[in-house]
Amino acid sequence: MEVKTAIRERRSIRAFKTDPVAEEVVIELIELANMAPSAGNLQAREFIAVRDDKTKEALAAAALNQMFISEAPVCIVVCVNYERIAHYGERGRELYVFHDTGAAIQNILLAVHDMGLGAVWVGAFDEDPVKRILNLPEHIRPVAIVPVGHPVEQPKMRVRRDPSDILRKESW
Ligand SMILES: Cc1cc2nc3c(=O)[nH]c(=O)nc-3n(C[C@H](O)[C@H](O)[C@H](O)COP(=O)(O)O)c2cc1C
Repeated sequence: MEVKTAIRERRSIRAFKTDPVAEEVVIELIELANMAPSAGNLQAREFIAVRDDKTKEALAAAALNQMFISEAPVCIVVCVNYERIAHYGERGRELYVFHDTGAAIQNILLAVHDMGLGAVWVGAFDEDPVKRILNLPEHIRPVAIVPVGHPVEQPKMRVRRDPSDILRKESW
């Protein structure tokens, strides 16, 4: 699939079949996620694949009861690694880590779509319970939960602002 096609066709998928997603698929997704650029190539990001039903249910509860999280065969929790970004000081901690993880998440979403699977970027969750559920050390911060599975829906494109409204020339 062409990159431009994947970008245009991708949708957030929030309903999944029970069909499994193979471990090799998850490994390839993580490889592709980590092909994304990162500040200084420090790759200050980590990924946790969750398949256990009880753990997924706990994550769904922590994510304001977004229960589709527990219905996906696998969830990839994308995390910042503050130790790996330490070289860049405050700007690394406050900004670069979110560039690094955001770029990786988008790679996952596009690759998932290319594979005929579906996923959604979930950012609305209470961090403390998620840290406890996943036993995260202090320097690891969860930024997104990405449920991945076989889609049972084909949502329409959500309206986007027109380029002519969001592009300014030369200055604000
Ligand atoms: C930072 C961020 C947080 C998001 N959090 C959630 C979320 O908690 N739950 C959810 O269902 N979708 C979430 N989304 C997905 C957006 O709702 C979705 O991308 C947007 O409505 C556009 O739809 P599309 O992805 O189908 O184009 C999030 C997306 C981003 C980038």
